[in-house]
Amino acid sequence: MIMFCDNKEQLDNTVKIIPLTVERLPDYADVIRKSFATVAKDFGWTKETAAGFIAFLSDEKLAERFKPGCLSFALMVDEKIIGFVSLTGKDEGIFELNRLAILPEWRHFGYGKKLLDFCKAKVRELGGNKITLDIIEENTRLRDWYAANGFIHTGTRKFAHLPFTTGHMEWRVV
Ligand SMILES: CC(C)(COP(=O)(O)OP(=O)(O)OC[C@H]1O[C@@H](n2cnc3c(N)ncnc32)[C@H](O)[C@@H]1OP(=O)(O)O)[C@@H](O)C(=O)NCCC(=O)NCCS
Repeated sequence: MIMFCDNKEQLDNTVKIIPLTVERLPDYADVIRKSFATVAKDFGWTKETAAGFIAFLSDEKLAERFKPGCLSFALMVDEKIIGFVSLTGKDEGIFELNRLAILPEWRHFGYGKKLLDFCKAKVRELGGNKITLDIIEENTRLRDWYAANGFIHTGTRKFAHLPFTTGHMEWRVV
């Protein structure tokens, strides 16, 4: 298991990606919830129909999703957190990417790709060989975006607490 890496990456004058710990979750929980709220809206889910979806989780429930060995990062613009992602080291050099999120008003400026590229570089730096992630299978726009960023679709799964099929995607360190 690869543990937390205290690394700070400067991208340009105003945009930076910083490591966070789960103890700071109140600082970034709203970024996660607000970002995934648009997904819930797109698919017509509410707290009543999809209570286990990430957009509807309290800070406490969200914290339970952060497993030991989970590295969390915030993308900041002018000291404001506008994006988030986490990487969890698994066995055999595999890293699971979760909760990639950019606040709705900050989308389409390339910040999502910046976080994704950061994760690729981080996994390479940590000696990993693969990034895996799950998507909402029906979200073809997202699937296409990951594919354009080098991820390959490898299968689907169904979880009882989620109202959708998850698609599994992978990127190999090259
Ligand atoms: C996916 C996401 C992180 C991309 O962030 P971003 O900063 O807009 O990404 P980029 O600017 O690098 O790339 C933009 C591309 O992302 C894709 N994209 C943007 N918003 C999207 C959304 N709501 N759903 C799916 N794909 C989206 C589109 O292909 C878009 O291309 P366009 O600008 O030509 O329309 C962001 O849309 C988001 O937070 N979505 C909600 C949470 C989510 O689904 N996260 C993925 C979990 S696996």
